[in-house]
Amino acid sequence: MIRLLENYNLAAYNTFGIAAKTKSFFEFTEADELVYFLQEHSLPEHFFILGGGSNLLLKNDFEGLVIYPNVPGVGEIDEDRNHIYIEAGAGVEWDELVRLSVVYQLGGLENLSLIPGKVGAAPVQNVGAYGAEAKDKIHLVRAVELATGQKVEFSNHECQFGYRNSIFKNELKNKVVITSVVFKLDKFPEFNLAYGSLNDEVAKNGEVALQNVRDAVIRIRQSKLPDPLEIGNAGSFFKNPVVPDELAANLKSKYPDMPSYPSGFDGETKLAAGWLIEQCGWKGFREGHVGVHKDQALVLVNYGGASGAELVALADKIQQSVYKKFAVKLQPEVNIVG
Ligand code: EPU
Repeated sequence: MIRLLENYNLAAYNTFGIAAKTKSFFEFTEADELVYFLQEHSLPEHFFILGGGSNLLLKNDFEGLVIYPNVPGVGEIDEDRNHIYIEAGAGVEWDELVRLSVVYQLGGLENLSLIPGKVGAAPVQNVGAYGAEAKDKIHLVRAVELATGQKVEFSNHECQFGYRNSIFKNELKNKVVITSVVFKLDKFPEFNLAYGSLNDEVAKNGEVALQNVRDAVIRIRQSKLPDPLEIGNAGSFFKNPVVPDELAANLKSKYPDMPSYPSGFDGETKLAAGWLIEQCGWKGFREGHVGVHKDQALVLVNYGGASGAELVALADKIQQSVYKKFAVKLQPEVNIVG
């Protein structure tokens, strides 16, 4: 099924709930429909690919084309001794995929429960939480190349995954549209409970099992993160910054309680943006329609009726104050469009 609409309101398509319009909107439910669309139409100068809109801030109305891959379906395509290969359409809700994987007793996605958004966006920013990342279970990404209209595939290695990063955010940004993702899930789950309070939360519910881990992650997330259906938000607004070890050590000597983590890169340490923002006094801040969440300072919220510009202005002020106090530059994790 395809839909091609003009002057379309995107309020229901971004979890911030910003009521911005797009000049054109193209939705498809099969990869071939996009292939045909590209044969018939030339792409305008301005376009972007929309997933669940859970990582998107629309600054203004969009004078271009929104491409909305709404490919449904989750199914087994292969198996080997230890794994089942599951293909999911780009339009499937991420948490629906996680829920099904747990129902079918397949391990690997349970720590990623309740992350908002769609399957097609998971490889783009390598979604992660509670010590797990989508990249650990992504086997293959299927996509359509916009310049040629060809179907293409990317192995896990070719996706060049990093922390909230992949080739789809860099070299291939706006070059390919992901249509489905193949996950390699474990028949014999290996649990990963090392992160923060996860182990304790799981223990509350008895033995370690996929459903318990999923339930525990859901409880932790619900206790800290606002539900986008109630308060508009896009999860973490900023990435956790990766800074030179020297700066981290300096800050640690001044602020011994500052959380820090190995970055995975030599000479660099990852800091907790939420902590830095809270130290600058922003937690629970509210001004007009926008604010900083009371339980997690990394989350900016729309209390209703906010414009994208108001949120961008608040984000700028937060960046400046964190820079002034800690000499750390925060980078947005959300994509700002317009
Ligand atoms: N912290 C504060 N104040 C705050 C928030 C956090 O002091 O307001 C401290 C916490 O006490 C902790 C540290 O900062 O010591 C880290 O906090 P937390 O465990 O809540 O995780 P995070 O680093 O703030 C990241 C992801 C989240 C993910 C959680 C859990 C990023 C940008 N964010 O947040 O992802 O759910 O870990 O794994 O990496 C998202 O990307 O949208 C998202 C919600």
